[in-house]
Amino acid sequence: MRPYIYITRKLPDSVIKEMQQKFDVGMWDHEDVPVPKEVLLLEARKADALMTMLSDAINETVLTAGKNLKVVANLAVGFDNIDVKTACREGIAICNTPDVLTDTTADLTFGLLMAAARRIVEAAEVVKEGNWKSWSPLLLAGHDIHHKTIGIVGMGKIGEAVAKRAKGFEMNILYHNRTRKPEVEQQLGAVYASFEELVGKSDYIVCLTPLTEETKNMFTREVFNQMKRSAIFINASRGPVVDEQALYEALAAGEISGAGLDVFEKEPINANHPLLQLPNVVALPHIGSSSVETRTAMMQLCIDNIEAVLEGNKPKTLVNK
Ligand code: DGY
Repeated sequence: MRPYIYITRKLPDSVIKEMQQKFDVGMWDHEDVPVPKEVLLLEARKADALMTMLSDAINETVLTAGKNLKVVANLAVGFDNIDVKTACREGIAICNTPDVLTDTTADLTFGLLMAAARRIVEAAEVVKEGNWKSWSPLLLAGHDIHHKTIGIVGMGKIGEAVAKRAKGFEMNILYHNRTRKPEVEQQLGAVYASFEELVGKSDYIVCLTPLTEETKNMFTREVFNQMKRSAIFINASRGPVVDEQALYEALAAGEISGAGLDVFEKEPINANHPLLQLPNVVALPHIGSSSVETRTAMMQLCIDNIEAVLEGNKPKTLVNK
C-alpha cells in the first residue's frame, strides 16, 4: 500500500501531481478556509504524513490520532503551532521551511518598515480617494530611515538579512538575541545591546524573534513606554510576542509614533479591531514569505522532507533533531 499524505490547504495542481507519483494524496480543497478540526483529526488518523499550515493547531490530539503518522511538514519556518514535545515522544519528525524564505521575509519586513516610516499606505490612499489637493511642504511627512538606528530583536537568519538591508541604508544597527553573533557584528557592524538598551535607543524596533514561552508577551506596556516617542515598531514574527492592547494604548497615547504589523495575536484580525482604526498602523495579512517563488520553494521543501522521512532518510530541515 502506498503511504497516505494529507495536505491541510489547497495547493497548486503541479505540487499535488508531483506527490501523487509516489503517494496517495488527500487535500483540504479550500484556499482561504482552514481545515476544520474534525476533518484534520479524521485525516490524521489514517495519514503517514501531514503537510500543515501555520494556522493549523497540531496538538497532542492530532499527533496521536492514528498509528501511522511519521512526519509533519509545516509550510513555515515558525513551528509554534505544533506540539513538538509530543511529536518527540511519539517519534514523529517535525520539519519546517527555513533558509528558502529568508530573503523574501526580510524584504517584506524592511518594506513594512519603509511603509510605516514614510506613510506609504496612507499616502497612496490619499491619491486613490481623490484627496490630494496640492503639493504642500509637509504633506504626509514621515520619518527618515537612512542613518537612523534600527534595533533587531531576534538575530536569526531573517534578522541578519534585515540587518544587511539596513546596512545598505547606512543605518546604525543594534541587535538583541539569546546568543551574540560575532560574525554579524564584524560583517555588518551590528552592535549587541540588552533588550532595555535596544528598546530605548532605536528609532525602529523590529521584532523577528520566534514565539516561545520566553518571548510570549515580551512587548508589554512598560516596554513600549521605554521607546522613543518617535519610534516605529515592526512585527514580522508572531503576534503573541506582543501585548496588542498595550501596543494600541501606546500608539493611541502618542507614546510611540507608528507600527508596521504583519502578524497578530488572533489571525485573521477583525477589521473592527482598535489597532486597525489608527492611521499610523500599517497592517498586512501575514505575508512575510509570500512571493510565488518562495512559496513554491517552501512547498518543494515540504515534499522533499516528507519523501525523505517516508523513505527512511534524514529530512533536510528537521526541527526535532
Ligand atoms: C513563517 O514561515 O513562519 C512565516 O511567518 C511565514 O510568512
